[in-house]
Amino acid sequence: MDENVSVSVSAPTSTITKTGARSLIALASAVAALGGLLFGYDTSVISGAMLFLRKDFQLSDVQLEFAVGIALAGALVGSALAGYSADRWGRRVTLLVTGFGFGVFAAASGLASELVTFVIARFFVGVCIGVSSLVTPLYLAEVSPASIRGALVSLNQLAITIGISAAYFVDYELAASQNWRWMFISAVLPAVVLVVGMVFLPESPRWLAQAGQRERALEGFRRLGRGAEGEAELRDVEQVLAREQHGFWMLLQPGFRMAVLVGIGLAVFQQITGINTIIYYSPEILRLSGYPSAKAAILSAAIIGAVNVMITIVSIILVDRAGRRVLLLVGTAGMGVALTLMGFLFHSHAAGSAVFYAMLGYIIFFSVGLGPVVWLLISEIYPTKVRGKAMSLATLMVWAANWVVAGTFLSLIHAAGTAGAFWIFAVICGLAFLFCLTVVPETKQRSLEDIERYWARFSKQRVL
Ligand code: BGC
Repeated sequence: MDENVSVSVSAPTSTITKTGARSLIALASAVAALGGLLFGYDTSVISGAMLFLRKDFQLSDVQLEFAVGIALAGALVGSALAGYSADRWGRRVTLLVTGFGFGVFAAASGLASELVTFVIARFFVGVCIGVSSLVTPLYLAEVSPASIRGALVSLNQLAITIGISAAYFVDYELAASQNWRWMFISAVLPAVVLVVGMVFLPESPRWLAQAGQRERALEGFRRLGRGAEGEAELRDVEQVLAREQHGFWMLLQPGFRMAVLVGIGLAVFQQITGINTIIYYSPEILRLSGYPSAKAAILSAAIIGAVNVMITIVSIILVDRAGRRVLLLVGTAGMGVALTLMGFLFHSHAAGSAVFYAMLGYIIFFSVGLGPVVWLLISEIYPTKVRGKAMSLATLMVWAANWVVAGTFLSLIHAAGTAGAFWIFAVICGLAFLFCLTVVPETKQRSLEDIERYWARFSKQRVL
C-alpha cells in the first residue's frame, strides 16, 4: 500500500507546551511502563525457577510443563477480558487493579506450599500479564502527543525487555542459594510502584471523552500539556466519536475490518517468526549447537537479553523519525537473513559461537522492528470506540500464537530438524515482510483521529 496515496495527513494536533506537563507525560509513561516490566519479568522468571520447583514439589515432566505453561493460559484469558474492562471502567482503573493483582499473586506464587496453590497463583499472574500487555500500550498511546507517541508507547516494549533481563539476572543470582521463592516475590516491588503511581496519574482523556465526561477530558488534555490545543484535540476526538457505532460486530464492518485484519496479522507475525524460541530456549539451542557448557549457554542468553534492551532503545529513538514501516521492513528482512544463516550453520555443523552470533543478529532485527512496533501499531491503528475490543483481539492472537510456537518448538525440531525449523521461520519472515510492505500503513506523526479517518477509505471503496 502506498502510504502517500489519498491519505489525509493533517499536522499533529498537539505539541507539548509546559515543562510541568512534559514531566507528567514522562511520569505517566514511566509508571504505566511498569506494566511492561512486570509482563517481561513474570513471563521469564519461571525459566530459572523451573529446576528448583521440580525438586521441591517433586514434579513429573507433565506436571512441570503444566506449572510452566499455566501463566500463558492466564495471559490468554487476561487479554480476552482486558478490552472490556478498559472500555467499561477505564484504562487507569484497569491498570491499577492489575498492579494490585500482580503484587498479590506474585507473593502467593512465591509463598505457595503445594503445587495446586502455585498453579492457581501463576494462572492469575498470567491474567495480569494478559491485561497489562493490552492496557499499558493502550494507555500510553492515548495520553501521548502524536509527535512522540511512537517513542512513549515503545517504552512498554523497552520495559518488557528490561523485565526479561532482570528475571535472568535475579534467577542467576538466586540460583546458588536455590531460593526460587524470592525469584517470584521480587516482582511485588514494581507492582506496588505501579499501584501507587496509578492512584495519582490522570485517566486517558480520550476514554473520558468517550465516556461522556467532557470537562474531565478537557482537564486531562490540559494536564498533559496540550494547552489551548486541548479544546481542539477534544473536538477532534468528539467528531470522530460522533460518527461511530457501538458493538463488537462493528469490528467486522468494511471501514474497520481492514484495521482489524492488519492488527491480527501483525500480532500473529510477531510470534510465528519465532522470537520466543530464542527468548525461552536460547540455552537449549546453544546446547544443541555443541556449546561448551551450560554456564556458557546461560551467560550467552543473558547477553542476548541485554542486546534486546539496547536495540529497543535504538528503535525508540528512530520510530518517530524513520517511521513504523521502515523499521518493520528492515526488521523482518534482517530476521529472515539471520534465520536462514542459522539454518545453514546447523546444517553444516558449524561452531556454536557462530550460531550465537547469528542469534544475536536475529535479536537485533527483532528489537528494532517487530518487537516494539507491533505493540505500538496495535495501540494506535484502531478507532477509539473499539480500540479496547480490537486490541483485545490482537493481543489474544499474540498470546495464542506464542502458546502454539513455544509449545511446539521442540517437536518441530524433532520433525524438521534444527536447520529445517529455522528455515521454516525464515520463510515466515519473508511473508511478514510482504505483509508489512503491502498492507501496513504509516502512522508516524499522525493523530489517532487522523489514522481513524484513514481506514474510512476502505469502507467507501469496499476493498474488503
Ligand atoms: C513479545 C514477547 C517477547 C518479547 C521479547 C515482545 O514484544 O510480545 O513475546 O518475549 O517481545 O523482547
